[in-house]
Amino acid sequence: MLTLGIDTRPKLSNEAFGLLRDIIYAKSGMFFPESKKYLLEKRLVKRLEEKNLKTFEDYYYFLTYDPEKNKELYKLINCVVTNETSFFRDVMQLDSFTKGVIPKLVREKTNAGKRNLKLWSAACSTGEEPFTLGMMLLEELNGRGFSVEILGSDISDHVLKSAEAATYEKYTLRNTPEQYLRRYFNNNGDSYTVAKKVQDLVKYRKINLIDSVETRAVRDIDVIFCRNVLIYFDDSSRRKAVNHLYDSLAKGGYLFLGFSETLHTVTRLFRPVSFERTVVYQKV
Ligand SMILES: C[S@@+](CC[C@H](N)C(=O)[O-])C[C@H]1O[C@@H](n2cnc3c(N)ncnc32)[C@H](O)[C@@H]1O
Repeated sequence: MLTLGIDTRPKLSNEAFGLLRDIIYAKSGMFFPESKKYLLEKRLVKRLEEKNLKTFEDYYYFLTYDPEKNKELYKLINCVVTNETSFFRDVMQLDSFTKGVIPKLVREKTNAGKRNLKLWSAACSTGEEPFTLGMMLLEELNGRGFSVEILGSDISDHVLKSAEAATYEKYTLRNTPEQYLRRYFNNNGDSYTVAKKVQDLVKYRKINLIDSVETRAVRDIDVIFCRNVLIYFDDSSRRKAVNHLYDSLAKGGYLFLGFSETLHTVTRLFRPVSFERTVVYQKV
């Protein structure tokens, strides 16, 4: 027998798409082009269901006029961000970090009589990136008497909660070398928990990269990883975020972007430096 299914899911009109996209953009810098309308529709349907709203227009009114609108705004951002990440993501970049940037910084710091390193994983999602950096630094700096502080931040409090729990499914560990699995994780059967000595290096904080007040609290950073987030921004929010990162770096500090990201059309403030086959941006 043939059954005709009637699709009763709410449809995102062009007008509601424009209004909701502007709200998301103003809050986070993330820009959804027309070609991503279907994605926004798919992600926002869950918010409508939870709020018991029938149309996307109703949701827009809720976000604009309801006394609970600020709380909902955070839920909206939590639900539209792309959180994909993994341990040891883009190994070639990580190699240039440990083989190029770290030895250079360690030499310069030692010459200046300093023995501390400050890192920032900006837009760290569920924490795999800052924990990877922590493990790599424990390996590289072993016995050299350096203290390490790593800040992990994200706009989404949802992912930061998960980062703080520091327990992961096997899939996100797929690129983790065996020796790191053995030394820096506790295996709980189906999941793995990051060892305490790595957790102790990392502090998490909610920071919106396009907000100058929130980023102002972060200063004198030696190395920033801001990977795979600028791709979701338009040029204007990219410029804003990158200027904030520049201000947060110490003089001579380095910025790593995602593999497919560049500062070419964004700013000339940084000097591009090549380590191995990776471009890193230095604050001069
Ligand atoms: C694809 S993940 C990247 C995670 C990690 N850096 C990596 O490369 O594996 C992008 C993250 O950027 C965050 N994000 C989006 N807009 C942001 C903003 N304005 N400020 C801070 N984080 C933001 C999202 O919440 C998401 O967790």
